[in-house]
Amino acid sequence: MRVIIVKDYQEMSKRAAKIVANRMKRKPDLVLGLATGSTPLGMYSEFIRMHKEEGLDFSQVRSFNLDEYCGLSSDHPQSYHYFMYDKLFNHINIRPENIYIPRGDVENAHIFCEWYEKKIKKEGGMDLQILGIGRDGHIGFNEPGSSLGSRTRIKTLTKETIEDNARFFKKKEEVPRYAITMGLGTISEAKECLLLASGTNKAEAIQKSIEGPVSAEITASLLQLHPRVMIIADEEAAQNLRQKDYYQYAEKMAEKLEVNQES
Ligand code: PGA
Repeated sequence: MRVIIVKDYQEMSKRAAKIVANRMKRKPDLVLGLATGSTPLGMYSEFIRMHKEEGLDFSQVRSFNLDEYCGLSSDHPQSYHYFMYDKLFNHINIRPENIYIPRGDVENAHIFCEWYEKKIKKEGGMDLQILGIGRDGHIGFNEPGSSLGSRTRIKTLTKETIEDNARFFKKKEEVPRYAITMGLGTISEAKECLLLASGTNKAEAIQKSIEGPVSAEITASLLQLHPRVMIIADEEAAQNLRQKDYYQYAEKMAEKLEVNQES
C-alpha cells in the first residue's frame, strides 16, 4: 500500500489526475472504475482541463461507476448518472457506449446487478478503480458489516451516509434509503485501486482503514489485502495516521529509487 500525503485538496486532485492520465497513456483502452461525491470533483475538473489543453484522450476508455441510488431515474439531478455526465462525461471524448453506471430505476435490481457483474468481467475487469471514502469507512456504498466478498447488490444506507449526502438534496427525507453498489469482492478484483481522501472529517476513517484491523466494520480496510493500492490523503485527512512520518519518508526514498516515476 502506498500512502501519499499531500498538502491540500487541490494537490490531491492534480496528483490523482496525473496518475490516471499516465495509466491511460500506457493503455488507451483502460477500464476505469469511477466514483461520485465531492472528493473526485477536482480530479474530474483536471481531466477536463487535460483533455481540452493537452489532448488527453478518453476515446477508448471504458468506465464503470461504483454505485447509484435506488429509485432515482438517470435524469434526476441528484442521480449519479446526472452527476457523471454533468461533471465529467459531457466535457470529454469518452464514447457513450463505453460508459456503465448502475441503474437505480430498473424493475428488477437483482437481474441488473448480475448483468453489471457480467459486463465488468466481459470488459476484462477494472484496470484502475477510483475510490472515495465515507465517514463510516465505506467504499462504494459498502456500509459497515458488508461481506468482504460481496458482489454488486442493493445496500441499505447508514444514517451517517444519509446525513452526509443530505447536503445534495433539498431535505434529508429526500435522500434515497437504498443504493446499488459494486461489492467489496467486485472492487478487490480491480487490478489497482486509488483512494482519495480530503478533510478532517475523513481523518478517523483513513486512520482505521490504513492502520486498523481488516474488518467489515470499516470496509475500506479491505484494501490492506489488495496488492496494488495507492491512497492520496491531504494533510487534514492524514492527521491521525500514526505512521505518517514514515509514509512521507518512504515516498521520498522511493523517488530516489525512481520506482515511482510514473506518478
Ligand atoms: P464524498 O463521499 O466524496 O462526498 O465525501 C465519499 C463517499 O461517501 O464515498
